[in-house]
This record gives sequence, C-alpha cells and structure tokens, in this order.
Amino acid sequence: MNASVENISVIGTGYLGATHAACMAELGFNVIGVDVDPEKIAALSAGDLPFHEPGLPELIRKHVDSGRLRFITDAEYSTVGGWGDVHFICVGTPQQKGGTGADMTYVDAAATGLAKAITKDRALIVGKSTVPVGTAARLSELVAQEKNDGVEVSLAWNPEFLREGFAVEDTLRPDRLVVGTRSEADEAILRQVYAEALGRETPWVATDFETAELVKVAANAFLATKISFINAFSEVTETVGGDIRTLADAIGHDTRIGRKFLNAGVGFGGGCLPKDIRALQTRVSELGLDHTMRFLDEVDQINLRRRKKAIARAFELLDQDIVGKKIAVLGITFKPLSDDVRDSPGLDVAARLFNAGADVAVYDPEGNHNAAKRYPRLNYVDSLDAAVADAELVVLTTEWDEFKKLTPADLDGKVAAKRFVDARHVLPAADWETAGWTFAQLGRKF
Ligand code: UGA
Repeated sequence: MNASVENISVIGTGYLGATHAACMAELGFNVIGVDVDPEKIAALSAGDLPFHEPGLPELIRKHVDSGRLRFITDAEYSTVGGWGDVHFICVGTPQQKGGTGADMTYVDAAATGLAKAITKDRALIVGKSTVPVGTAARLSELVAQEKNDGVEVSLAWNPEFLREGFAVEDTLRPDRLVVGTRSEADEAILRQVYAEALGRETPWVATDFETAELVKVAANAFLATKISFINAFSEVTETVGGDIRTLADAIGHDTRIGRKFLNAGVGFGGGCLPKDIRALQTRVSELGLDHTMRFLDEVDQINLRRRKKAIARAFELLDQDIVGKKIAVLGITFKPLSDDVRDSPGLDVAARLFNAGADVAVYDPEGNHNAAKRYPRLNYVDSLDAAVADAELVVLTTEWDEFKKLTPADLDGKVAAKRFVDARHVLPAADWETAGWTFAQLGRKF
C-alpha cells in the first residue's frame, strides 16, 4: 500500500487506547476509538476521563472538538472495518484468573472481529497490547483465515512503553519505536504513522514479530529486576546499617547502571510490572524453558517481602498491639501522578493493617475513589489532616509530592503519637528523629 494513511481506529479505550487515540489525532489522523463499554465511550466523548492522566483530558477535548477524534461502541467493528487504514489493538491482557499467564481473550476477539469486519482493499492491524511471545504469529494466521475475500489484511506488532503519569509525553515523544512486521510494505505504513517522531530521529527498531513482542516484556522484566535488586540491598542495610539512597546514587553514577529505577521502598505494583514478570515466566515454561526466567520468581518474592516489611515495622512501632489503633496510611495508588490502585503496595499494606484490626484512615490525592471500589471497608478521608488526626502511627506508602514535602512541624499537635513508617524512604529521617519522632524507614536499620 503506497496510499497515505488517513484513518486510524483504536480498539480498546482504556489507559493505553485512550492515550494512543488522542495522540494519533494530535499527529493529524482521523481517529475512531472503539470500546465495548458504553459508559466509557460517553465519558470519553465528553472529554471526561475515567482515570487520572495529566494532559490527556485536554488533548481528548481538543480533538473531539476539532472533529478528528470520535469514540464509539461497535461490538462488530462494522463502522471502522470499511473506514480504517490502520487498526491498533489496545485491549488489556490481564493476569488470568486463578493463573499466572496472560488472559488473551480480548486480544483474540479484537483480531478476529477486525479481520471479519475489514472491507477496505488494504488494511493493517497493529497489536500494541503486551502479549506472550508467539501471539503475533498466531494472530497472523487467524486474521488470514477470518478475513474477507478480495481484501488484503496484514498484521504488525508495535509494543508500547508509556508510563502512567507521562502517557501523552511518552506517546508523542517516545524514546524508541519498535515495530515487528513480516513485510517492508507493512513497515512503510508504520513509518507513515510515526513520521513525526522519525523526523526527530527517534530510534526506529524494525524487526520480526517475536523480537517486538519480547522487547516489551524484556524491558518491564529488567525494570522490575532493577527495583528488586536495590530492594534486596535494602534488606541488607536494614540489618547491618548503611544508607540505601547513597548506595543507589553511588552505583547509579556508573552510566552502565544508571540511577533510574533504583529507588528502594515498598516495591513495585501497578497493572504492568507484576503481571508481566509472571506472564513471561509462564510463557517460557510453556516453551519448555522452565529454568530460564526462574530468577523472576525471586524478583517477585523480594518485591512482595517489601510489603510485609512495611507491615512488620508498623507492628513494631506499635509494640505488636495494633488492634483498634488509628493508623494513617498516606498514598494508596501504585505510584504518584496516577489514580491506579491495581496491585498497589500501599493499598495492600492498608488493607492488611485493617484486617489485623487497626483503625485505618486512608488519604490519597487521587486514588481514594478507586481504592474504595476494591476495599470499601477502609476509612477513606479527603485530606492529610483528617488522616493524621489523632493517629497513633503514620505510614507513607506512595511518594506524592504533598507527602515528600511533609515536615515534623506539619503534623505537630495533630497526631496522638509521634510514630512514622516511611515505606518509600523519601523523608529526611534525622529531622524527624530530632523532632522526637520514632521514625522507621524501609531500607534503613531500625
Ligand atoms: C511500566 C513501565 O515503566 C513502562 O515503560 C511500561 O510501558 C508500562 O509499565 C506498561 O507495561 O504499560 P508503569 O506501570 O506506569 O510503567 O509504572 P512505573 O513507572 O514503571 O512504576 C512501576 C512501579 O515501580 C511503581 O509501583 C513504582 O512505585 C515502582 N518503582 C519504580 C519503585 O519502587 N522504585 C523505582 O525506582 C521505580
């Protein structure tokens, strides 16, 4: 196909899809976002995001108003099938219920549905979802079987590396673009789609299906490993003494290592890193490589031990007697600048303290509403002051700016007892201790 790409459909308007759709419109394409959930479609069409992402509501409103962006429900893909030049699959691949592999139901349904619906002479289906290696090859066959006679439909894989909180920036200005295709013609189509980034000399990695799929999971597995690596050293400094931040700074100065993703604390969570390392292990085991990714088990275990450590510190500070004690938990999203509480260390810690009998007051600048859907029995309050009022213990679990700026004076006269667990290791311990606080920090000897 040498004709120029004009119309782009995006299947699935969750986090990834909504961002991708808005950014494709920003790049000048006509875009239709398709989702099965009519409520989500109505909200997006009005420019109201069902999740928190800086800059995205404005971009969506801009292009809904410009007429370049529409959101529709269309279970059969009948509207986009005769219209789109390129169709991006952005549906979720959650962890299987009761298993560790990725649930491919939504991706398979989207690929099959599109293949049946496409009536344009030539169209390209592009997978962006995070998938087990081998998926693109399998879907390629599926699409060839299901497509209509007389039309040319092919498949490409183009993994996404955006971070929540920086989704628009990461999509419009990616640090690399990876495309797995089986023909130069398909690669050329994607070059058109990403012409603007290519004009800025963004690295373009053109490869096969398997490499493209693996790049994504390898990147997330590496990031998870880096975090668990520093958290393993946390266990050492917690025992022997030493300063985990200085250690991270010092090794991070080596550009081969780099300082990013070496922040020790309560560990990683979210909808990607934890599920992706489990899905990768599951996939390589299926391939007969049982031992190959076994270290990721350890990465997972180190990570989960961090949550237990935060809880153990809370118990220690309260002399093992937490029943009925008011504990303020600050931050329950899996990271700042997000309202996402999926597999969130902070929410996990809050829920377990509650289950152990504590009177837990939770405050998060953005996450309370989502957390309340998961754990309705926690006491969600809408300010830091309300959370810490008469608390016997304060636990900082997500490093929002509002919490990183906290000083002992801010809490003076508000709490019932000066006890603090800084589970993200972001506050200056000496200042708090000087002000009379019993101050525990993950990564620091207590
Ligand atoms: C991650 C990757 O960073 C993205 O590149 C990828 O596209 C995305 O998953 C995905 O697969 O869709 P995200 O889940 O938004 O992005 O969050 P991260 O910024 O990677 O943080 C993950 C978790 O690690 C958070 O809970 C964060 O608090 C924790 N973390 C991060 C640490 O505990 N220490 C660090 O030094 C860095």
